[in-house]
Amino acid sequence: MQDLYTLARPLLFRLDPEKAHRLTIALMKRGVFPRYTLKPDPALEQTLWNLRFPSPVGLAAGFDKNAEVISPLFRLAFGFVEAGTVTPKPQDGNPKPRIFRCPEHEAVINRMGFPNEGMHAFKNNIEHFLSAGPRMPGVLGINIGMNKDQSTPVKDYTLLIRMLGPMADYLTVNISSPNTPGLRDLQKREPLLELIGALREERRKACGAHPPPLLLKLAPDLSEEQQEELAQAALDSEVDGLILTNTTLDRPGALPPAFAGETGGLSGQPLTNKSTGIIRNFYRLTNGKIPIVGAGGVSSGRDAYAKIKAGASLIQLYTALVFRGPSVAMCIHNDLHAYLKADGFDHIGQAVGIDVKPKNTGQELNTSSGS
Ligand SMILES: Cc1cc2nc3c(=O)[nH]c(=O)nc-3n(C[C@H](O)[C@H](O)[C@H](O)COP(=O)(O)O)c2cc1C
Repeated sequence: MQDLYTLARPLLFRLDPEKAHRLTIALMKRGVFPRYTLKPDPALEQTLWNLRFPSPVGLAAGFDKNAEVISPLFRLAFGFVEAGTVTPKPQDGNPKPRIFRCPEHEAVINRMGFPNEGMHAFKNNIEHFLSAGPRMPGVLGINIGMNKDQSTPVKDYTLLIRMLGPMADYLTVNISSPNTPGLRDLQKREPLLELIGALREERRKACGAHPPPLLLKLAPDLSEEQQEELAQAALDSEVDGLILTNTTLDRPGALPPAFAGETGGLSGQPLTNKSTGIIRNFYRLTNGKIPIVGAGGVSSGRDAYAKIKAGASLIQLYTALVFRGPSVAMCIHNDLHAYLKADGFDHIGQAVGIDVKPKNTGQELNTSSGS
């Protein structure tokens, strides 16, 4: 199927990126997409928050903003799919064009601004997915955000939890997209503690005995002080997980100036090392106590393994799907097995954070005294 995508890619790349994306979603809805079967692999299965992930490779938020193609996405061998970002009201997002590709660097800049059809349409789509017969193995995340015109963020997030929380395997609180004014201001201790406290309370009321874990998605553009402050706030607020990271506002020097000059968040290969560094820092700062989902420029088994060794228990991708095609999750899954084997690990859990843990002890970071 990689070969087929090699043929299809030049045609898709002749289209404006957003048109190509809409066409892809339309085709997927009509059943026109390849299917890959995950070979069950006990070494790569992860259980976190009482959820079983058949593969540690997931699809990051932003591809399926309205939860229209969850089932086809599971058939591309993703172990988990994160739909959204959804906001309470429908909104158009920023003026087009607002997505830009850079094939030489396998990078994208986007300034979408959360265009989506709103929570009612999203809920209908999820209900349709959940009622359409036996589910493929795989975990469904729902990524929530606030409308552009909302001046009191907690109102939108609580509303979304009430409405969608009971349908989610996990919830992601997105406070890190660079394209919604004021959103990243929530990445500070006091506003964050207040927000997470309110959301945990809402989740308790809305989701009863089986509340979905609450994950927090952060930006990569954080100073060392901000990372320390946020890691402590994440521990204090008892969020269940961290997604590291969203897109970056950085523009590494090697990018072509016309591309680099576009406003928005940069994703793909130029983000790989930066996001891995953030994962490493948070794993250390939280003593490995909060599971991390690593995202940012993962396009190979090697990239995924580097994030796992830096402290990620799971990884996600979006941009590599654009450049590497629909077999990318499958390829990474298979390559990861080889990397684990080569290092003598029987299970992915043994590799998580190994680059951060004190050398030669194999010690769990959260039980070590000196780190
Ligand atoms: C076109 C596009 C749209 C995105 N939209 C969202 C979004 O709605 N919500 C979100 O949390 N992240 C969004 N992201 C960020 C991705 O989920 C991911 O965190 C980031 O792109 C880094 O991963 P990657 O390099 O594998 O793409 C978007 C990324 C792209 C490229």
